[in-house]
Amino acid sequence: MTLVSEHWATAKLPKSLLQTILERRDFRMTSLDAEQLSLIGSDGYRPSDDHILGDAIVAMQLGKNVLLKGPTGSGKTRLAETLSYLFGQPMHSVNCSVDLDAEGLVGFKTLDQEAGQSVVRFIPGPLVKAMTEGHWLYIDEVNMAKPETLPLINGVLDHRRTITNPFTGEVVRAKKGFGVIAAVNIGYVGTVPMNEALKNRFVVMDVPYLQGDKLLELLKERSLLKDDELLRRFVRLSADLQEQIRSGQLSDEAASVRAMLDACDLAAYLPPLRAIQRAINDKLDDEREQALVANLAETYFG
Ligand SMILES: Nc1ncnc2c1ncn2[C@@H]1O[C@H](COP(=O)(O)OP(=O)(O)OP(=O)(O)O)[C@@H](O)[C@H]1O
Ligand SMILES: [Mg+2]
Repeated sequence: MTLVSEHWATAKLPKSLLQTILERRDFRMTSLDAEQLSLIGSDGYRPSDDHILGDAIVAMQLGKNVLLKGPTGSGKTRLAETLSYLFGQPMHSVNCSVDLDAEGLVGFKTLDQEAGQSVVRFIPGPLVKAMTEGHWLYIDEVNMAKPETLPLINGVLDHRRTITNPFTGEVVRAKKGFGVIAAVNIGYVGTVPMNEALKNRFVVMDVPYLQGDKLLELLKERSLLKDDELLRRFVRLSADLQEQIRSGQLSDEAASVRAMLDACDLAAYLPPLRAIQRAINDKLDDEREQALVANLAETYFG
């Protein structure tokens, strides 16, 4: 059986379930071609609590649609990739915030030449590919879906797992193994409400920013900064920032783990205060928020 990294043990799954998933993974991996293998995510999500990974694994194994909810840079995409890695499932991605229309989701028709004749061919998009190949579909920022794509997405999420391709009139039924993970950027502020019928079709997992020792471990493992004492100060700064976010003084992205990793990487070569300014302060729109972060950073690195 393939060795998967140690932290699967911390997911606290029933042993038999993990065994089934891993056996199926081994079997599946041998039947995938290079392109399909390239669609499998990489391992590396670190859970913020004891349950998030295990619960997500159970939900995917049961064929539920999983909605990852959390602020920007909290590891939602990383979690989805990690699940794709564990299940050995190729994952196609779409992002609803970038003007995704029905063609971008389902596919489009094109004119081809075949033996001197013009033929109309349908080029499947990520949704149809994932459905017909029994792969997974990752729908980023699903709360931003346009009204024209919403019925398609709802159809896919329904237990019937069927859509009518609007361009060919064909009924597309999902093959066994098809699964959906969606993500929404939702923090303490700036929440974009989600269509009720859409939300109703998911089981929801909260993906908060890592904190404390867990954040420290991640920074130690991933960041270029190797100075333990400095890393600890970054973790304390992150705790302060999260506190300010909770009290409404700062917007969510101020404590983004992505930004914190950037700050630590830069701090391997720049003075920490400048690293923080580039990776965190200057991204905030509000001058008052920028000053607040600068003040907090000063207390640890001044
Ligand atoms: N819990 C975590 N475990 C592992 N990596 C993490 C975690 N949280 C954040 N990261 C790292 O931070 C970066 C951002 O993570 P990711 O892209 O998954 O965030 P996201 O929640 O999908 O953000 P967005 O909403 O902006 O798409 C990545 O480099 C990721 O590896
Ligand atoms: Mg993401």
